[in-house]
Amino acid sequence: MRNTTHRRPRRLRQNASIREMVAENRLKVSQLVEPLFITDFGPAQQNIPSLPGLFRENLEFTLKHIEISLKLGIKSFALFPAIADSLKTSDAKESFNPKGLVPQAVRKIKQTFPEALVITDVALDPYSDQGHDGLVKNGQILNDETIEVLCKMALAQAEAGADFVAPSDMMDGRVGALRQALDEKNYIHTGIISYTAKYASGFYGPFRDALNSAPKFGDKKTYQMDYRNSHEALIEAELDYTEGADVLMVKPGLAYLDVIALLKQNFDIPIAAYNVSGEYAMVKAAAEKNWIDERKVVLEILNSFVRAGADMIFTYHSQAAAQWLQQEP
Ligand code: PBG
Repeated sequence: MRNTTHRRPRRLRQNASIREMVAENRLKVSQLVEPLFITDFGPAQQNIPSLPGLFRENLEFTLKHIEISLKLGIKSFALFPAIADSLKTSDAKESFNPKGLVPQAVRKIKQTFPEALVITDVALDPYSDQGHDGLVKNGQILNDETIEVLCKMALAQAEAGADFVAPSDMMDGRVGALRQALDEKNYIHTGIISYTAKYASGFYGPFRDALNSAPKFGDKKTYQMDYRNSHEALIEAELDYTEGADVLMVKPGLAYLDVIALLKQNFDIPIAAYNVSGEYAMVKAAAEKNWIDERKVVLEILNSFVRAGADMIFTYHSQAAAQWLQQEP
């Protein structure tokens, strides 16, 4: 049958130049945030079996890694600390030690590479002997008591020079409390990237392997969101926005593109997507078996975040993606 309309969408797909000209979205290396696992005990560079190609690294290796990333055009780094079990306590006090691993790393990174943006995680799990993001009492995760510790933690990070603090704990009211604590000490330029819609997810497994931070009992469902919900994300976003968050994040990314789109449509501040550890691990495992083409799949995934409305993307594929983006538009 003859095409009776004059519209032929294939006209705009017929060659690479046209496709490039009319592309609706463009992934840029400047949107990428590279998560880094840092450590100060054990070997200088340690494999993470469930995250092939990624390492826990000491400060010296981390600096070398950042130097390479900066040359590739990656400017933002999110730090996650793996500390010795002996430092993990029920009050998680190592989290606000001004001489702790994270503040030390921030100072050194900002001193060595002033142009690098450093984002620090605010949650207690890497420091808690229970592996929970908040303080635990009688099997319950305490909200307001946790926030007091989070404020001290964020202040130690801001004092060390973090550009953004990123609360990933999902306690109620933490963004407002952090903003107030930072402002009171005159850290008015330290931003808050809030893990706004952070879901209780099976996709965090490899991250918890990397930090040895899996919960010692139960799960995180009393504070992280239920994956059956999306409108609830609007409530979280409304709170974080009003409490002063600079950026709203959705996490995980791939199974939550609808939530990214929902927040983008309803809020006028930048939206971040976190392409989490389990999403990275799935791609790597299938690529190792030659079941998928890693390059094609990673670029497709990252572009899907942009299409959904993400302005920034936290991804473990940052270095690889930056290289691929240099090779082709
Ligand atoms: C901890 C935190 C987690 C991640 C980032 N910050 C894990 C969790 O909530 O258990 C996950 C990141 C990833 O899986 O890549 N507050």
